[in-house]
Amino acid sequence: MEKKWWHGKVAYQIYPKSFLDSNNDGIGDLGGIIQKLDYLHDLGIEILWLSPIYPSPFYDQGYDIKDYYDIDPTFGTMQDFDLLLEKAKKLNIKIVMDLVLNHCSIEHIWFKKACLDVNLKEASYFYIREGKNGQPPNNQRACFGGSVWDKLPNHDNLYYAHFFTKEQPDLNWFNADLRAEMYKIVNFWLDKGVSGFRIDAIMCIAKDPNFPMYESDSEDGTCSHLRMNKENIKVAYDFIRDLRDNTFKKHKDSIAIAEAFGVLDEDLSIFIGDDGLFDCIFDFSAREAVASYHSFYGYKMLSVKEYKDAIFSMQKRSNNTGFVCPLFENHDEPRGVSTYLPKAWQNDIGAKALALITLFLRGMPFLFQGSEIGMQNTKFESIDEFDDILSKNEYKNSLEHGLTKELALDILNVHARDHGRTPMLWDDSEYAAFSTHKPWMKVSSFKDKINVKAQLEDKNSILNFYKTLIALKKDERFNSCLTYGDFVEIESRSDDTIAYKREGSYIDIYVIANLGLSDISYTFDFNFDIIISNDLSLVLKDKNTLYIKRGGALAFVHKK
Ligand code: GLC
Repeated sequence: MEKKWWHGKVAYQIYPKSFLDSNNDGIGDLGGIIQKLDYLHDLGIEILWLSPIYPSPFYDQGYDIKDYYDIDPTFGTMQDFDLLLEKAKKLNIKIVMDLVLNHCSIEHIWFKKACLDVNLKEASYFYIREGKNGQPPNNQRACFGGSVWDKLPNHDNLYYAHFFTKEQPDLNWFNADLRAEMYKIVNFWLDKGVSGFRIDAIMCIAKDPNFPMYESDSEDGTCSHLRMNKENIKVAYDFIRDLRDNTFKKHKDSIAIAEAFGVLDEDLSIFIGDDGLFDCIFDFSAREAVASYHSFYGYKMLSVKEYKDAIFSMQKRSNNTGFVCPLFENHDEPRGVSTYLPKAWQNDIGAKALALITLFLRGMPFLFQGSEIGMQNTKFESIDEFDDILSKNEYKNSLEHGLTKELALDILNVHARDHGRTPMLWDDSEYAAFSTHKPWMKVSSFKDKINVKAQLEDKNSILNFYKTLIALKKDERFNSCLTYGDFVEIESRSDDTIAYKREGSYIDIYVIANLGLSDISYTFDFNFDIIISNDLSLVLKDKNTLYIKRGGALAFVHKK
């Protein structure tokens, strides 16, 4: 495999609105990110992905872009962004932006023009179709619920397609002028010095421009847009190949990381690897296992075994192909500690185990702001405390399906995207030192127990555990094995054990976590050295035997 600068590094996602507010308006900003670069550098982070910071009306929190070439004033100015690039460079931190290619905003000038006159060139940048007998052109259901069609303003029987909210009109990738515009955007930022992009909702550009009717998969007669995306995925491959050749390929050291759900086994080598369309893709296998139903109320919680099977299957699939990005949370997901760990281990011990399991997997792991202190889901007391458009739609949907208000709220308290969007917990003050102004989102009540300040002072904290883990990944004794070593599952001692090894040329590194309620032991026929454990009292080594108490997790090295 060709070696790349990002191999072996740990990346970190910032959700700018909720990271740190430097001008005290209650909303996070670029100034806040700049202030915390040293903190991130100390943690060992070398790549930062920023969720969208472009001008936006924020119907979907910036994933509805109205100008791809500027910075939203809420976050600062282009000068602030340049300063961020400059300061990050000094600390060897690369900046990765978010690229939303599937749709823009209803406030983008292209869409405004399309609404004025469908004969204008810009109208052909969108999917505009005639309705049928007073109904939308077909029966596809949008990602956030409802039809993918809405009436084009100022027109009687014309509809535009949007696979997300109605404020996010989908862009027509079949149009060569539109594609050229998108390449220009990517090159603009790469020329400016950003190191690459996280590419949003990429599977959605796979469309059938005829928009046929689909067999329904829901009682309301609609069919998920995913069906069209799946059936037309080859169209997307052509578009992306062209995008790659006109942008990323020309910027030799750039990185493209895709948000790609539902990648089939046989297609993985199209996505990643030396000739992949992308450098890597996020591993959403655990998320996909949770979200196998189209509404939150049908989502399921995974057992430790189901979680393990999901992440291990992607590791095995990608072993000989390329790199994925292991992660257990992001801005579209509830907190990993609350989602994937059994109740008994939703604490420091479990958070450290999850960190170890994730960071030593093969690929480029992504932390999400707050992962490093073990942030958990916040308790929202009423629907009014939620911000996300999806949460509001899901609540409505639950009620329409006969669930009580209490149950609908409980479901959001488990699955809502808002959990990843509450302000970062810097200390235990009223607004957690995120701002001195009331924040745009509720501050987690966990701030008293879980915050950066307290954890910096405690040498046994989750934060310091992450620092050690990342330092071990960079340690020249382990770096090659942890970067390029194959992933191999090792036998579990129970359904609640997660155990694997990374096979290097000279060493193997084993990771074992006991997330059950009974103690386990392993005897090996070789000598080994423990390099890290989540809690010294939970792990005991006697000659070649390991005793791992309930909750214990460790990594050890076997020199071959
Ligand atoms: C991606 C983003 C998500 C957004 C959606 C539509 O999944 O991560 O936050 O809502 O795309 O842009």
